[in-house]
Amino acid sequence: MGKELLGSLELNRIYQMDCLEGMKLIPNESIDLIVTDPPYTMTKRGKSCRPNWMPNNMGENVFDGKIPDTQSWMEQCYRVLKNETHFYTFCNINDITKYLQVAKDVGFKLHNIIAMIKDTGMPNRWYYKQTELVLFFRKGKAKPINDFTSRDNINVIMPKQSTGKIHITQKPYEFIEKLVTNSSKENEVVLDPFMGSATTAVASICNNRKWVGFEVDTNNIELANKRLEQIQLEDDLADYEK
Ligand SMILES: C[S@@+](CC[C@H](N)C(=O)[O-])C[C@H]1O[C@@H](n2cnc3c(N)ncnc32)[C@H](O)[C@@H]1O
Repeated sequence: MGKELLGSLELNRIYQMDCLEGMKLIPNESIDLIVTDPPYTMTKRGKSCRPNWMPNNMGENVFDGKIPDTQSWMEQCYRVLKNETHFYTFCNINDITKYLQVAKDVGFKLHNIIAMIKDTGMPNRWYYKQTELVLFFRKGKAKPINDFTSRDNINVIMPKQSTGKIHITQKPYEFIEKLVTNSSKENEVVLDPFMGSATTAVASICNNRKWVGFEVDTNNIELANKRLEQIQLEDDLADYEK
């Protein structure tokens, strides 16, 4: 079967590229959904800190590179998304004001701010920090999520330890899967400009969506591709057993 293309890019693969360069190769209004989790630097008194559960092959720091300019990557997200689509981005409290303003400036409309509860919060003098925020925007006319009648809470509790994690900021699969299935249909194209361990890609594969993404770190790409190979093997085996 021939490879499916999106402009000059192949679908269903991670490109080792800065997403600012990569997204320029995506045609206007060709993407059905963006779910992403941009980098941030965890610091402790100005130094990167390494949690004690983190294995050596996860890299020395959360992200040591240059944090990409928010306006530049969000502008590209807006350009490549089709009309009446959704855009989800994780965000920390330091960046929330900037993200909300920039997203509005580039044309997105805010639908909601989703809080993902985690069990890894740290007690501190300003209450227990226990959530990760996900900003939920739309491009164009409002389109409801697919499963809006469900009373299920979107929140999942992030497990305390790192079991099964291959990336320090890897997001819980079930949470990402809900975003993907609620905001796209089968065969539609999902983009994640900051792939990390490829959780968005795994959720897309397991729910028959097409996908594409970018990642700058060689070690992350290698680990993500191994994860995807494993998923593909399990998928093929499931088809064979039918
Ligand atoms: C917060 S992590 C994403 C984690 C992902 N959600 C997961 O579940 O594994 C952000 C990723 O973006 C990558 N990154 C940072 N700057 C980038 C850029 N300009 N283009 C593409 N990837 C970038 C980092 O190497 C890191 O792996």
